[in-house]
Amino acid sequence: MTESVDLAGAAALLRAGALVAFPTETVYGLGADARQGPAVAAIFAAKGRPHFNPLICHFPNAEAAWAEVVPDDRARALAETFWPGPLSLVLPRRDTCRIDLLAGAGLDTLAVRVPAHPLALALLEAAGVPVAAPSANRSGQVSPTTAAHVLEGLGGRIAAVLDGGPCGVGLESTVLDLTQRSPVLLRPGGVPVEAIEAVIGPVSRPLPLSAAEASRSLRSPGMMLSHYAPNLPLRLGARQVAADEALLAFGPPLPGAGVVWQLSESGDVTEAAARLFAGLRWLDAEGARRGVLGIAAMPVPEAGLGAAINDRLLRAAAPRG
Ligand code: TXA
Ligand code: MG
Repeated sequence: MTESVDLAGAAALLRAGALVAFPTETVYGLGADARQGPAVAAIFAAKGRPHFNPLICHFPNAEAAWAEVVPDDRARALAETFWPGPLSLVLPRRDTCRIDLLAGAGLDTLAVRVPAHPLALALLEAAGVPVAAPSANRSGQVSPTTAAHVLEGLGGRIAAVLDGGPCGVGLESTVLDLTQRSPVLLRPGGVPVEAIEAVIGPVSRPLPLSAAEASRSLRSPGMMLSHYAPNLPLRLGARQVAADEALLAFGPPLPGAGVVWQLSESGDVTEAAARLFAGLRWLDAEGARRGVLGIAAMPVPEAGLGAAINDRLLRAAAPRG
């Protein structure tokens, strides 16, 4: 049974080593005390997540994060500018780091973040422990932006969900690797890379990898291409819609589709980001009910959160397997 809990209940469960889903400004996270090995292992089991894919650790403030990893000047400047907020920084673990090794998939680095959602911050304060939290979905499925989405995928597999309503940003944090001389964008997300470059200068942007390449590349395990998959096949950059397709619209919808999810009528990428994952879920369910065979997605510009939207769409459209 997965129960609905209040803040104090969620904090007590986390301290006791249980799995608790909680809202962040990006997506719902599946939290556990990052120092307790069995609790961390339970995250991987509940999600069906491969053990080579490390988790992000969440803290109530930068000082708490710096107790576990070594920040450099770039990390401090980015934290100053974007925390609390949707940016995860990959940094070297301290020798004294108390985070369980499995949380970092055995790497000598750790991704850390201070989330901006008030309930997430209050939970981290109340629990008083670092919280490892991937997105609260089964591995490979679309990330949850409501408590109901969490229950669809993980109901019965986790102790509790803290409901904070729909997530404001709607897609995951930007993941930036600062362990090399030149910063590397491991995942575009809630903080646009242009905004990061305005603070620390140029960031390299490698291309997404196939699952096989990613499993060989321990540096960027989360860059595997097939991810965020809806059940229906997804076709990108659509300029027209076939009779048997549903439409993921951005701006004025293409004519002819019966099943339409509008990301943003006015063409606003920030609004579109917040509506993306709910839209993929809805199109899957509604499309199946209406006998639709695929989803056609209209083009979304790359600027701002558009880069993160296009990254998720590319992964959702990648060959499965
Ligand atoms: O917005 C978010 O980041 C959400 C909320 C809950 O905070 N969390 C999230 O976690 O999206 P997850 O596990 O779904 O994605 C974490 C990403 C993965 O791509 C993972 O490979 C990468 O971060 N990552 C974590 N630790 C890493 C490390 N030490 N080195 C390289 N990549 C790392
Ligand atoms: Mg995820």
